[in-house]
Amino acid sequence: MARFEKHIFICGNQRPSGHPRGCCDPEQKAELRKAFKQALAERGLKGRVRANQSGCLDQCEHGPNLVVYPEGVFYGHVTLADVEEIVESHIISGKPVERLVLAEGCINTASCEHKPRKAPST
Ligand code: FES
Ligand SMILES: [Zn+2]
Repeated sequence: MARFEKHIFICGNQRPSGHPRGCCDPEQKAELRKAFKQALAERGLKGRVRANQSGCLDQCEHGPNLVVYPEGVFYGHVTLADVEEIVESHIISGKPVERLVLAEGCINTASCEHKPRKAPST
C-alpha cells in the first residue's frame, strides 16, 4: 500500500475549564477531526490523506489548532466552517489558507500577543 501523502493532525486535547492555557476540544467531541475525515472521504482521498486526532500540539492559546505534514503548516482558530476551504485550497491545490496559518512569531515562542490567553471580550 502506498504511503500517505499528507497527514492532518488535529488537536483533541481537553483541559479543565478555566485552565490558563485553554484547550482545543473542551467538550471532547472531536468534531473537527470528524469533519476532516468526511471531507477527505467525499473527495476520494481516503488512503492518501489522513486526518488524525492528536494530543496537545503546544500551541494551545491559538486553538483549536491543527498541523499539516509534510509541510509543517500550523493552523489556529480553526472552526468547522474552515474545513472545506483547508481541504480544497491546501490539501488539494497546495495553497495554505493564509488567514488561518499561525504566524511564525506565535509558534513555539515563550510569548506572543495571545499568551497568556486573553479572556474573551463579552
Ligand atoms: S490543547 Fe491543543 S494545542 Fe494544546
Ligand atoms: Zn500568538
